[in-house]
Amino acid sequence: MTDTGTPPRSAATPTPAAAGQPLIQLRDITRRYGEGATQFLALRGISLDVHDGEFVAVMGPSGSGKSTAMNILGCLDTASAGDYRFKGAPVQAMNRDQRALLRRRWLGFVFQGFNLLARTSAQENVELPLLYRGESAASRRAAARAALAEVGLAGWEHHTPGELSGGQQQRVAIARAIVTQPAVLLADEPTGNLDSARSVEIMQLLSRLNRERGITVLMVTHEPDMAAWAHRVLRFVDGRIASDRQQTPITEPPPAEAADTPGAVAAGAAEIAAGAPPSVPTVEAAASLCPPPATTAAPGPTA
Ligand SMILES: Nc1ncnc2c1ncn2[C@@H]1O[C@H](COP(=O)(O)OP(=O)(O)O)[C@@H](O)[C@H]1O
Ligand SMILES: [Mg+2]
Repeated sequence: MTDTGTPPRSAATPTPAAAGQPLIQLRDITRRYGEGATQFLALRGISLDVHDGEFVAVMGPSGSGKSTAMNILGCLDTASAGDYRFKGAPVQAMNRDQRALLRRRWLGFVFQGFNLLARTSAQENVELPLLYRGESAASRRAAARAALAEVGLAGWEHHTPGELSGGQQQRVAIARAIVTQPAVLLADEPTGNLDSARSVEIMQLLSRLNRERGITVLMVTHEPDMAAWAHRVLRFVDGRIASDRQQTPITEPPPAEAADTPGAVAAGAAEIAAGAPPSVPTVEAAASLCPPPATTAAPGPTA
């Protein structure tokens, strides 16, 4: 640190997430499946900026490329072409190991089908990502207990998924996703297997993690009621982002949370269902709403 307050920064170090610098940046991302006559373009040029602290809902018909995009964002898959930057670091240029490190350090996943190990306790399921990180048994145990408590499952540590309801299983999956303190939570239809009461509980939990822990959330959903919990709604059609709408500034609660009355939620949901036109340009809109960073950025994924 120098007297001028400007620390030297190596070219390899991602710059801090200053207001305006997106956490996630996609440019012209395509994903091609198959070859020749059977080839299929699941993504046809996706460009997107997501800023720290946003809660983004991803909607669109089945087959429109939502899961493909989430898998690329989550480094579970790679784009066929285009540029993906995470905290300014070029993910496209990373090798498999580097992407795995990025994934383990910064990202958490929640899936529709929970994806828990069946004959394994909630506690051990949540410890798993920490095991991959090589953490000690004692620190794994403490972190997993804390994560389970955070999702409202204190006392359920020793139950296996078969002994838990669907809503509880999804809570375990969320605890597993947040136990590593990720910057981003990627949730692909997290309420797809749940009834509406359980779905609302999961949305309340995701919303709280976004608001109180500052976790950026990207969530695929078919349901306008669930999208009403987000600040911003993307609509995918045929492998493209057909609309991108800021429904609430990230400094304010999303429609579903702000609503004291069911009517307000329904109104927000109806607006989403009607498919609003594309919002103002994403970069400017999100940047102007982004509060200045509270802390300096942690070391980047390639550091
Ligand atoms: N592994 C794959 N091989 C071939 N086609 C695929 C594969 N995965 C997805 N697709 C196709 O890509 C398109 C987008 O799929 P997906 O991203 O799963 O859509 P969504 O999540 O919006 O329902 C679909 O037409 C699907 O059939
Ligand atoms: Mg899908």
